[in-house]
Amino acid sequence: MPDVVLQARGLAKAFVAPAGRLPVLVDISIEVCAGESVSIRGSSGSGKTTLLQQLGGLDEPDAGTVGVFAHGGGMVPPRKTLGRGIGFVFQNYQLMPELTALENVALAARIAGVDAGPAESAARELLAQVGLIDRLRHLPSRLSGGECQRVAIARALVNKPSVILADEPTGNLDERTGVEIMNLLLGVVAERGAALVLVTHSREFAERATRRFVLSGGVLSPA
Ligand SMILES: Nc1ncnc2c1ncn2[C@@H]1O[C@H](COP(=O)(O)OP(=O)(O)OP(=O)(O)O)[C@@H](O)[C@H]1O
Ligand SMILES: [Mg+2]
Repeated sequence: MPDVVLQARGLAKAFVAPAGRLPVLVDISIEVCAGESVSIRGSSGSGKTTLLQQLGGLDEPDAGTVGVFAHGGGMVPPRKTLGRGIGFVFQNYQLMPELTALENVALAARIAGVDAGPAESAARELLAQVGLIDRLRHLPSRLSGGECQRVAIARALVNKPSVILADEPTGNLDERTGVEIMNLLLGVVAERGAALVLVTHSREFAERATRRFVLSGGVLSPA
């Protein structure tokens, strides 16, 4: 039996807009297993970021449930994994501008309860893995877009999450850097048996995932 590490059932989410209620997610159910990558495409405004936010516990759905596998704890709601079960790569990096690359990554480990020394060591190791060992002390403003994205990916991986949620991680990058980022993410899935949910506008990158979906009209359909 495959190890399900992310499970969403009957997710629904609507926003209240001046023109009335705006249903964005209508009825979303999905299961993702360890070692699996799932891609989600959909037009701008179709609700991809909204979906990832519900899956990652950054927002509460109006209806439905989300479970994430937490080591030692079984399936728990995403907020109960305390920053360890899920690694989130945001659409626009969301790095702390006043912190260096090293501090940005170490902070995520500190928030998950790791002591300062081991947090810095783990951050250094991850940044080396993404090819930024000579950029540790750079502020985000002194990094290129691709480098910021690699810091954001290192931050998402530092607590060895069982689930990686990546929101257009290649959206702002040139083609070659985009391919490098994709190789990095799929490499982590292969090496660590993590599960990846990848939101992308790129058909080419979407096709590299083991399963592919399109989000339209608030529901997910196989692509
Ligand atoms: N907090 C909010 N309040 C009201 N409406 C919102 C809110 N967040 C998102 N929306 C609306 O929900 C819809 C889906 O937004 P979302 O950001 O999930 O789209 P997306 O598929 O990620 O788009 P893109 O490809 O441009 O990133 C949009 O129409 C947006 O205007
Ligand atoms: Mg989005």
